[in-house]
Amino acid sequence: MKFEHKVLLTIVLISLPFVGGAGPKTSIVHTSHNLSSSGPGEIKSVNETRICIFCHSSHNGSPEGPLWNHETTKTGAFKVYDRETMQGYPQQPNGATKLCLSCHDGTIAVGAVKSIAGEIKMHGVGADGEIPSAKSSNFGRDLSGMHPVSIPYTQKTAQGKSTLRWPPVDLEQEVGLDQAGFVQCTTCHDPHGSRSKSLPFWQKDSFSKVCNVCHSY
Ligand code: HEC
Ligand code: HEC
Ligand code: HEC
Ligand code: HEC
Repeated sequence: MKFEHKVLLTIVLISLPFVGGAGPKTSIVHTSHNLSSSGPGEIKSVNETRICIFCHSSHNGSPEGPLWNHETTKTGAFKVYDRETMQGYPQQPNGATKLCLSCHDGTIAVGAVKSIAGEIKMHGVGADGEIPSAKSSNFGRDLSGMHPVSIPYTQKTAQGKSTLRWPPVDLEQEVGLDQAGFVQCTTCHDPHGSRSKSLPFWQKDSFSKVCNVCHSY
């Protein structure tokens, strides 16, 4: 991460009450990613009151993400999206996708953070502190049935596919590919809140605005 970004993130983290106040996006406070004891979901902490700590910390952050504080999943064993027609083969989870799967693959405890010894105690989790396997938000390690992620989006990827456009078009220039040019979970989802009333952690205020960046049907 660039130094300026690190400074900026630290400032944002310590000025937490101002986050999510303005703008069309819902605040993380009212979402299932508020995993603190004030969270609205079934999965929340018994006594931890800080919200950002489950994912970020200004101390001991790992280089895998912005001041990243959650233990990350081991990659290598994921079954990724694969089709004969695929021009750009998805890789094992990387970038933000790897960060998301550190909770959503169901192999790591939700409360397993680097800045605290042991784990943050949680309500609503499975025997090992994970998102329970009965929940559809626990994806396991088979990603072959979902939209491809950790896939580079290049002219070659788009070539010869009538449903993919090149170059991608994003008038708002705020969603789509990560800095490495990859499609990730964050292509569609913003882990901090939603701009859509009906879709979970949605990057834009409609479904198709997200898809239209790369697809033309
Ligand atoms: C459930 C996990 C989670 C929680 C909780 C969370 N974040 Fe994040 N945050 C992420 C992920 C994942 C990224 C990386 C996004 C990317 O690479 O596109 C991120 C990135 C960021 C960034 C970098 C800029 C950006 O938006 O990509 C800032 C700043 C940030 N988070 C602030 C916060 C603050 C402040 C809180 C507490 C109010 C918070 N986050 C809570 C997951 C979380
Ligand atoms: C620290 C753990 C953690 C991380 C990291 C995390 N999540 Fe979650 N997420 C959760 C939990 C817990 C829930 C609630 C699950 C449930 O109750 O079914 C959830 C719920 C969701 C939901 C469903 C929300 C709803 O209202 O139905 C989406 C979508 C989601 N997460 C996407 C993401 C994405 C995308 C990332 C990465 C950018 C991410 N999550 C990172 C823990 C995490
Ligand atoms: C191409 C867009 C797209 C991408 C990429 C994407 N999602 Fe989603 N996701 C959706 C949509 C649309 C929904 C809501 C409808 C549904 O449940 O299928 C959803 C729903 C979810 C839910 C709630 C599911 C439930 O049943 O509780 C979670 C959790 C989630 N996504 C996490 C992720 C994670 C983690 C990744 C990356 C590994 C990811 N998503 C990548 C579009 C996407
Ligand atoms: C940042 C670019 C990007 C965005 C945004 C995006 N996709 Fe995709 N999508 C891709 C890529 C790349 C593939 C893989 C194409 C290939 O190589 O075969 C793909 C594949 C698909 C496929 C599989 C069928 C096919 O053409 O191979 C479907 C269905 C799909 N996307 C639907 C959606 C929907 C619905 C949305 C919005 C919720 C969306 N996508 C958002 C890039 C994107």
